Amino acid sequence: KLSTTASRNNAVKYLTVIGGGLMGSGIAQVAAQTGHQVILVDQSEDILSKSRANIQKSLQRVIKKKFAEDPKGGEAFLSDTMDRITTQTDAAASVHTIFTSNTSSIPIGDIAVSTQRQDRFGGLHFFNPVPMMKLLEDTPGFIVNRLLVPYMVEAVRLVERGDASTKDVDTAMKLGAGYPMGPFELCDYVGLDTMKFILDGWSKNYPDNPLFQPSELLNKLVSEGKLGAKTGEGFYKYE
Ligand code: CAA
Repeated sequence: KLSTTASRNNAVKYLTVIGGGLMGSGIAQVAAQTGHQVILVDQSEDILSKSRANIQKSLQRVIKKKFAEDPKGGEAFLSDTMDRITTQTDAAASVHTIFTSNTSSIPIGDIAVSTQRQDRFGGLHFFNPVPMMKLLEDTPGFIVNRLLVPYMVEAVRLVERGDASTKDVDTAMKLGAGYPMGPFELCDYVGLDTMKFILDGWSKNYPDNPLFQPSELLNKLVSEGKLGAKTGEGFYKYE
């Protein structure tokens, strides 16, 4: 019922998501859950089958909550949602297609200039985990990351200076500020490569801002392939 009502109200009915990683899978999932027909694109069938498996796993968590008393409804919701997602390894866009980017740090205008459709190009910034986070930023300036990334990097600098351990900082922010995750848990969840990518871009564009200066510790972990939960190690180790 939820998806039928949503699909009736959709102005946009078809969506192609380029990239089946953490964010792309989440975006494809919530779009399909709300009645959109989705094509998910990535470079290989192998990546795409992992994306489908991750979407299915995440949908199971949604179903556990939403269909606790209605297992049959849950099964239908799962198959209806998965049926709305097809995958392919190449992407084509017709002239009327609206492009949006999920970039979290690159100014949208900088990306749009390389296209012929600046009037049909925008930013839609989702948050990780997409199925749970209710905010979608489409305002210029990226409010959340502008505040969140310097906060996370300041936490890294605090540990680099030897002021506290990662565990101390995380515990302090969870107990003292009520955050669901401490900054190091969040860094590992977001991905240290993503953090570095954002910071490198900002420090290049705004070299005088001390908040955007690179962090040696972050760079070291990234160069060692310790990118966070997805590689089994970042600031913490994962099973
Ligand atoms: N799909 C579906 N459901 C999910 C899910 C997923 N991927 N991840 C978590 N959930 C659900 C769980 O099933 C669980 O449901 P119930 O309450 O019904 O049991 C609920 O969310 C809570 O999950 P957990 O009990 O496992 O753990 P939690 O209470 O710590 O919540 C969290 C997990 C929602 C991720 C929470 O820790 C949180 O909000 N963390 C902060 C996330 C955040 O700050 N995101 C922004 C990152 S920055 C970014 O994205 C921008 C960028 O560009 C860098």
